[in-house]
Amino acid sequence: MDQFENNDDARESGVIRVGSPQEAPLANHSRPRSMEGVIGASESIVDVYSMVDRVADTQCTVLVTGESGTGKELVARAVHNTSPRASHPFVAVNCGAIPEALLESELFGHIRGAFTGAVANKIGRIGAAQGGTLFLDEVGELPLSLQVKLLRLLQSYEYSPVGETKTIKADIRIVAATNVDLEEAVAAGKFREDLYYRLNVIHLQLPPLRERKEDLALLIDWFIEKTSSRIGRSGELSNAAFDAMMTWNWPGNVRELENTIERALLLCRDGIIEARDLPAKICGQAGNDRAAAANLPDGGVDLRNAVDAFENNLIRQALERTGWNKNQAARLLGLNRTTLVEMLKRKRMGGIKAA
Ligand SMILES: Nc1ncnc2c1ncn2[C@@H]1O[C@H](COP(=O)(O)OP(=O)(O)OP(=O)(O)O)[C@@H](O)[C@H]1O
Ligand SMILES: [Mg+2]
Repeated sequence: MDQFENNDDARESGVIRVGSPQEAPLANHSRPRSMEGVIGASESIVDVYSMVDRVADTQCTVLVTGESGTGKELVARAVHNTSPRASHPFVAVNCGAIPEALLESELFGHIRGAFTGAVANKIGRIGAAQGGTLFLDEVGELPLSLQVKLLRLLQSYEYSPVGETKTIKADIRIVAATNVDLEEAVAAGKFREDLYYRLNVIHLQLPPLRERKEDLALLIDWFIEKTSSRIGRSGELSNAAFDAMMTWNWPGNVRELENTIERALLLCRDGIIEARDLPAKICGQAGNDRAAAANLPDGGVDLRNAVDAFENNLIRQALERTGWNKNQAARLLGLNRTTLVEMLKRKRMGGIKAA
């Protein structure tokens, strides 16, 4: 596992702020914290590093799955960069972004005259990846007609450009990625089962960020470091901002985190990222949790009355804080003005100012 960056390496490269309180959630400091630009020390990510390491010098096909923004392309590049193919090209094809009519010639190439408009020979992405790695992104989007051709390629490592009768040897390693459930696609008849098994020799499943919150501190430090030098602004997180980020469940995964850090660095003052420098949905969530914190009394509660009292209390505070300005109070409560006015009527709270 010599390509792992252990703690010391990472510290030397300045990735980790030594002594940062944000290191605390990491239970096991002897774990690797990054590999080829993939950052994380959680068990699930370390398992991925270990698998990448084990398949590094083989030619086996790898399937990378995970939600959007979990790092599938980054991991596919790690597979390539740790392999003996690293000095050859890494060629990516987004199977969902190229129109079906063009995809075959884009992948396999064509010879001059193969179809109207084929005025010259074209090498195709498989040809361009010779000696290296072909990354089939969004492989679940591959049309059925091309799935058959890809299967043939995977069985023989030979292919023919469109219009060519001879076959060419393909010296490539295939890494595929998808954020759709291919087993479901197989069951629905949208993806060939035989191709699925061919692609799924080694399966790297990337966990969503919400399931590896212990990696947040590392990732935050990494993105602050990376983005600071790019945009020329540095900063660090206040405790409140860090708490808000720990509470958010990151539906957009690492990509969302990266964008959040960039935005916060641009907005923050005096080098400190405060909760207000985070998108409202992120700092709002921590606030929601704080507002909702209540202990169940020993004798229990009447839930409906308790919820009513809870609402009344927050509404009253919002009105008091804004000098009874219903527009501003509604904004503090995440409501529109009409809804707040209706609630006040329903709750007969119109006269609470005098009360
Ligand atoms: N573990 C990680 N460490 C560092 N950066 C990461 C990590 N995971 C993702 N990123 C960064 O997050 C962004 C999104 O990653 P990537 O494009 O690899 O995700 P993806 O899973 O391919 O997303 P999509 O499904 O939308 O194509 C990139 O900028 C990438 O560098
Ligand atoms: Mg991707």
